[in-house]
Amino acid sequence: MSLQTVLLTAAFAIVVSAGAHAEDKGTAAVPKQELEAKIAYCKTCHGVSGQGFRGAFPMPRLAGQQPEYLENQLQAFIERRRTNPVMFNVAHVLSPSMVTALATHFKDLNPKPLGGAGAPKELVAAGKQIYEDGVPSAEVPPCATCHGPEAKGADAFPRLAGQLNDYVAKKLLNWSKERGQDPAKPDNSAIMQPIAHNLTEAQVKAVAAYLSYLE
Ligand code: HEC
Ligand code: HEC
Repeated sequence: MSLQTVLLTAAFAIVVSAGAHAEDKGTAAVPKQELEAKIAYCKTCHGVSGQGFRGAFPMPRLAGQQPEYLENQLQAFIERRRTNPVMFNVAHVLSPSMVTALATHFKDLNPKPLGGAGAPKELVAAGKQIYEDGVPSAEVPPCATCHGPEAKGADAFPRLAGQLNDYVAKKLLNWSKERGQDPAKPDNSAIMQPIAHNLTEAQVKAVAAYLSYLE
């Protein structure tokens, strides 16, 4: 079996088992006013169209994000498998039906990427090559096999297109300190751990620059 097949098999095994809990989610409709107030709140940090925002630290783009990935991350913040004090406070008060409604709302937004602003254009070509071919000498598989040829993601695989380059770089460089923080509850972050680990900082910056310009 090739490395890629092994990784993909592992990825799908974990992703499918995580999906099995999806039935527990509430499906009751959220009152429109409550939903709109909550969306307005998310947008104070994530940008008026969910395009992301550069403040004291980068607030990621949520627009066009895969609902299943978005819901997984909110749950990870709540259970502190993904460490972020701001998003813990935001997420732990959301009802399951509110989470579903928010995920649907952000999926349907499609603003121009903000990510490109500030990302070094001269790194884009090298980043594209990493995205499409991986880094075989470092056992890094092509990102496109999981995140899709246009980086739109699917199900539990996140969209990366148009994401802020500084956010992407920060996540990849700190992966094992921020994600998968509960050894008793392994999650999909384990799939990315060796990939993030095997990329050099220069490669991370290149692939982050490439992604930030994708629409
Ligand atoms: C006070 C600012 C703030 C508010 C309000 C806020 N967020 Fe966040 N959010 C952040 C920051 C900062 C991060 C990045 C955390 C990190 O670096 O890991 C983030 C990350 C996320 C992520 C992970 C994105 C990814 O690509 O992995 C999701 C999903 C998310 N927020 C959803 C929401 C939703 C839904 C709301 C509204 C209910 C919301 N956020 C409100 C600041 C905020
Ligand atoms: C084997 C499948 C697979 C491959 C190959 C892969 N990824 Fe991922 N990636 C994932 C999964 C699954 C997640 C979601 C992890 C989670 O839910 O915690 C993810 C998450 C991410 C995130 C976090 C997104 C966010 O919004 O916080 C980034 C950034 C990322 N991948 C970049 C890359 C890059 C760059 C490459 C290529 C060098 C790559 N990935 C290759 C499966 C993969």
